[in-house]
Amino acid sequence: MSVKRVLFSVVCSLFLTVPAAAVADVLVELPAPQKSGGLSVLEALGSRHVERAFDERILPMQEVSNVLWAACGVNREDGRLTVPTALNRQLVGVYAVLPDGVYRYDAKQNVLEQVLKGDGYLKTYANGAPMVLLHAAQESERYSAMHVGSMYENVALYCASAGLANVMKAQETDKLEGKLPLPDGWKIYMIQPVGYPAKAD
Ligand SMILES: Cc1cc2nc3c(=O)[nH]c(=O)nc-3n(C[C@H](O)[C@H](O)[C@H](O)COP(=O)(O)O)c2cc1C
Repeated sequence: MSVKRVLFSVVCSLFLTVPAAAVADVLVELPAPQKSGGLSVLEALGSRHVERAFDERILPMQEVSNVLWAACGVNREDGRLTVPTALNRQLVGVYAVLPDGVYRYDAKQNVLEQVLKGDGYLKTYANGAPMVLLHAAQESERYSAMHVGSMYENVALYCASAGLANVMKAQETDKLEGKLPLPDGWKIYMIQPVGYPAKAD
């Protein structure tokens, strides 16, 4: 199968240039996540908060990569993740709803695989955020809710560190039900819109 690798290294506006390929053929190579900078963990804990209003600006791919890595990226050479999972079974994952479609985050390869193509998916969520994370996990895994909680808190702390807005929501988790090609027995536990804070009036 031919796979089109699209290198994105600048800003999210390049999403508009994704070739019109069959959905499964679009892989977006993410920039390496930034592992320094931002607020300290203690400072981030001091400013973590939910924000429900977002600026309409899209996020640069570097931020998309950083946010996804915070959620469940690989942080060690043996393939372990930024999120702890029971027995390191790693039965968790994140999808990113972006302006041109929905993508599965492949943490091992640091790529996004397009699973739904089209510019309407983001608009189905409230808030007007430029990215919505869908935190997914296997339903039969007894620790899934805990794993998802760790993922959204990792993201919340990254957002505090980087000056981004986010809210974790138990609402709207079913928006893409029947459309999103989840693995058998998996479900979306939480959604998390992420973006720049809305400008003060
Ligand atoms: C498990 C969980 C579910 C939540 N669900 C929603 C939700 O559906 N909609 C929403 O606007 N906020 C939701 N929140 C955000 C909380 O309302 C928010 O964290 C709380 O008001 C405290 O504000 P803070 O996070 O800024 O401290 C949820 C938070 C958690 C931890």
